[in-house]
Amino acid sequence: MPRDEVPTPELPVQVPLVTEPWGILKSLEVARRNLLELIPEVATRQPIVSGRTAVRWHMVMDPEANRYILKDAVDNYPKSDVTKLILKPAIGESLFIAEGAHWRWQRRAAAPVFSHRNISNLGPIMSLAAERSSERLESAVGRAANLFDEMVTATFEVISDVTFSGGEKFDRSAVHAAIDKYIAQTAKVSILDIFGAPGWIPRPLRMISSGAMREMKRMADGAIEARRASGPHNVPDLLDLLLEGEDPKTKRTMSTEELRDNLLTFIVAGHETTALTLAWSLYLLAFDPTVQARARAEAQGVLQGRTATADDVENLPFIRQVIDEALRLYPPAAMVSRIAREADTLCGREVRAGDTVMLPFYALHRNHLLWDHPHAFNPDRFSDPKAIDRYAYLPFGDGPRICIGASFAIQEAVIILATLISRFRFSRVPGKEPKPVLILTLRPEGGVWLKVERAGPEGAAKAA
Ligand code: HEM
Repeated sequence: MPRDEVPTPELPVQVPLVTEPWGILKSLEVARRNLLELIPEVATRQPIVSGRTAVRWHMVMDPEANRYILKDAVDNYPKSDVTKLILKPAIGESLFIAEGAHWRWQRRAAAPVFSHRNISNLGPIMSLAAERSSERLESAVGRAANLFDEMVTATFEVISDVTFSGGEKFDRSAVHAAIDKYIAQTAKVSILDIFGAPGWIPRPLRMISSGAMREMKRMADGAIEARRASGPHNVPDLLDLLLEGEDPKTKRTMSTEELRDNLLTFIVAGHETTALTLAWSLYLLAFDPTVQARARAEAQGVLQGRTATADDVENLPFIRQVIDEALRLYPPAAMVSRIAREADTLCGREVRAGDTVMLPFYALHRNHLLWDHPHAFNPDRFSDPKAIDRYAYLPFGDGPRICIGASFAIQEAVIILATLISRFRFSRVPGKEPKPVLILTLRPEGGVWLKVERAGPEGAAKAA
């Protein structure tokens, strides 16, 4: 029996991938419900799977080909229209969406904002959010709480504090509600585009530019103008840094509209993804109480009762491994999509100009050719990061379009997870398992419901 087929008593939740040949594509309804259900099971056993609906498409799960698509031949594989159609009405021609020269200058202008030093400076905001989350969880002790909702609240506090700190003119809950509503509506419809649904299928939601979205943009513009007038804060936030940001080559700086689109991009791209990382990490720790005890022992040993800070992150390697493993099993950006500009060959297969090339990280991260026991939760895989093939593990993408907020997200997730796990014990609630559903991001349908209890000293901390 191959090593990866030794029976495991129980595995964390997954969506059973389809095993019958492409009959499933009969039903585009499936795609609207859960894009994961369209990934065939063979995608976890082969380097490439190709097919044809209205368009020709390929799913690639091969490290070498990933490197080629995302890095070496990046100019031949621009982002597909799907992502752009979904996000453009909300975030314009921002960093996430732009291509070519317009992307390049924005990336150069924004890069210093995410430097190691600036991210460390934002640590206190993340610690404060961890502290507030911990206070809210105190009131949930003894009962079950939806930790996904709780993590969305915590990460939204961070992202709104680091984008528009002070925020006099900024109604956070209104912005939060507008973004959530927008993503929920547009994503469902636009998934049809990936598989080339015929053009006559109505996409009504994209056509309405919602009042909430207009109001959000107006508020953001107001906050930017107010900041231009008042000057930067003592500890600069992302808005101050972006206002200063200029393309080192052209010396160009951002207009109010460009600033707004990029700040809203950071909010959209940054808060739910990080909340998902935390919620799935907590689910996995509840799934495996032994790993949870180990994580708690590390956090308690380092923190000694206090809230985690940016300086603690390097001393919390096991907490980081848990996060890495959660990002493997439940990558928030579970699939990215590109279009082949010119004809090419991938994994020995013919790719024609115009073909859709999907990189389903969910299937890559669970591919039997690349991982031992791919569906099992085992943070020890990441004990030596050098042992991981870089292009077999892509929660943040790679190449020039790699996530600009990756270090920001990891620092925030370690600070919040270490603080919470040092103080609370989380256990599963029978009958309330989350179901992974991919609609733009990989969400736990039904939430992550866990029983919350106060934690006593664990292992190493007890002995200390
Ligand atoms: C765990 C949390 C996060 C995950 C899993 C994640 C994942 C990703 C992935 C996979 C991409 C590449 C998309 C592609 O190639 O098509 C990306 C791009 C991006 N992310 Fe993140 N992200 C996270 C957090 C953040 C944060 C916190 C921010 C900002 C504050 C951010 C801002 C961006 C931006 C601006 C891009 C586009 C970069 C470019 O095209 O130059 N992300 N992210």
